[in-house]
Amino acid sequence: MSQKIDELNHKIEQAKLGGGQKRIDKQHEKKKLTARERVEYFLDEGSFEEIGMFVTHRTTDFNMQDQVYYGDGVVTGFGTVDGRLVYVYAQDFTVFGGALSETHAEKICKVMDHAVKVGAPIIGLNDSGGARIQEGVRSLGGYADIFYRNVQASGVVPQISAIMGPCAGGAVYSPAMTDFTIMVENTSYMFVTGPNVVKTVTNEEVTAEELGGASAHSTKSGVTHLTALNDVECLENIKTLLSYMPQNNQEKPEKLEYRIQDEVRETLEDIVPENPNKPYDMHEVINGIIDEDSFFEIHKDYADNIIVGFSRIGGRSVGVVANQPMSLAGVLDVDASKKAARFVRFCDAFNIPLLVLVDVPGFLPGTDQEWNGIILNGAKLLYALSEATVPRISVITRKAYGGAYDVMNSKHIGADLNYAWPTSEIAVMGAKGASEIIFRKEIQAAEDPEIKLSEKEKEYADAFANPYKAAQRGFVDEVIMPKSTRRKLIKAFAMLENKEVLRPNRKHGNIPL
Ligand code: COA
Repeated sequence: MSQKIDELNHKIEQAKLGGGQKRIDKQHEKKKLTARERVEYFLDEGSFEEIGMFVTHRTTDFNMQDQVYYGDGVVTGFGTVDGRLVYVYAQDFTVFGGALSETHAEKICKVMDHAVKVGAPIIGLNDSGGARIQEGVRSLGGYADIFYRNVQASGVVPQISAIMGPCAGGAVYSPAMTDFTIMVENTSYMFVTGPNVVKTVTNEEVTAEELGGASAHSTKSGVTHLTALNDVECLENIKTLLSYMPQNNQEKPEKLEYRIQDEVRETLEDIVPENPNKPYDMHEVINGIIDEDSFFEIHKDYADNIIVGFSRIGGRSVGVVANQPMSLAGVLDVDASKKAARFVRFCDAFNIPLLVLVDVPGFLPGTDQEWNGIILNGAKLLYALSEATVPRISVITRKAYGGAYDVMNSKHIGADLNYAWPTSEIAVMGAKGASEIIFRKEIQAAEDPEIKLSEKEKEYADAFANPYKAAQRGFVDEVIMPKSTRRKLIKAFAMLENKEVLRPNRKHGNIPL
């Protein structure tokens, strides 16, 4: 018996060494943790249970039978994060550079299948040289098996991808289809084709970091939602992200204990400037409304004319979507619309209520925007909000102009409660632009057109640059004091707790893509 136990212990030790100490040292030299260290750090202490430790590849081409490592380049299993069950896979760069073989893919698929059956999040820690070159199409098939499962699991359990090393070629499409991607700065990159191929095809000289590093994908492409300075920060961010989510689409996110108290926030009264053209930081509004220090921003450095992120309001997890007057005056453009639409759809899929803070002067004009499809992209946000059945509340802080008024969670597209601050201007457009159009003849005929324009501008502003016309119609439910916003929202989200919307049966809608 003891001999058998020794044999097992020996195999476990071997498996834990992955591709061997030399390669582990190399991983550390690159300031990267190994797959096992990542899993251990990520999960609650002692909670990890491994599945498939002794799996090996089945390839004999290129004498691969002589290079066999337990685990075949990926550590898979389950454990808990803050006491909640999660499934995890971590690619082991020390074994064939974490390259994906048929069996490596089978291990990932196994935990994905478990996650869906049981209803728990799946977290992938990617660090891989891509398809196992010695296996050819079997490896590509393995990728497709994962992609297929990513899609089947989408909207059923949360899926999070961390990119903690290379992720290139076909490999990028699994993270792309998961809910959130986080990249580690300087040690990770993602691209469909690397710098050498780029040079051959387009003659561009670009480094891997420039082409697909964390900075490129967090600022230019929006492929990654979050970045982290190192492996540890990356894993901590995933834990925080998970804390706002339920385990699956049948559950609600955890509500923290909260007892309503004096919720007046005087600071909210002084944020919106007198001058409607002066910017202010919408983060100040968000922080004045939500539970202290609870904002976890997503896509922070991408399309910063809109802010999205998770927060807590009275202990409840709430997704925030907010125009940012500090950037491009808070207009909606292609990137901002896509960013917000994707976030809204995640929240809706996982029963996270939405708070929409509105200060929007309209859509960004120009050939660049039109030719890049602002029509279709703006429609994504309109569609995403219109189909969302979670509790939805809007607060208009200042401008709500034109079509963007409709899009930003207006009453007409199904918002449950629409509040407006007294500083709101709900109109087709700003007073100056409107006056120039509808009073053009009068202004041109005037002795002093400048004076006439400002008179007419005032006339228009008095009539429309306020929330009261909308409130008369019931398009705004209540005009509220900024300082009482937090109290209103705590009560409103509590009231909407059991909201239920039944939709007619259909296969799926056809969101503009
Ligand atoms: N298939 C099989 N083995 C692979 C592999 C792959 N796709 N990618 C890397 N490896 C192996 C290497 O042969 C090396 O093995 P060794 O430890 O026995 O020497 C090990 O993984 C580490 O790779 P190495 O090239 O030394 O690491 P690096 O950090 O210098 O470079 C990459 C990493 C990913 C840039 C580089 O390995 C690479 O370009 N890989 C191929 C990428 C690719 O074209 N994939 C297929 C298409 S998706």
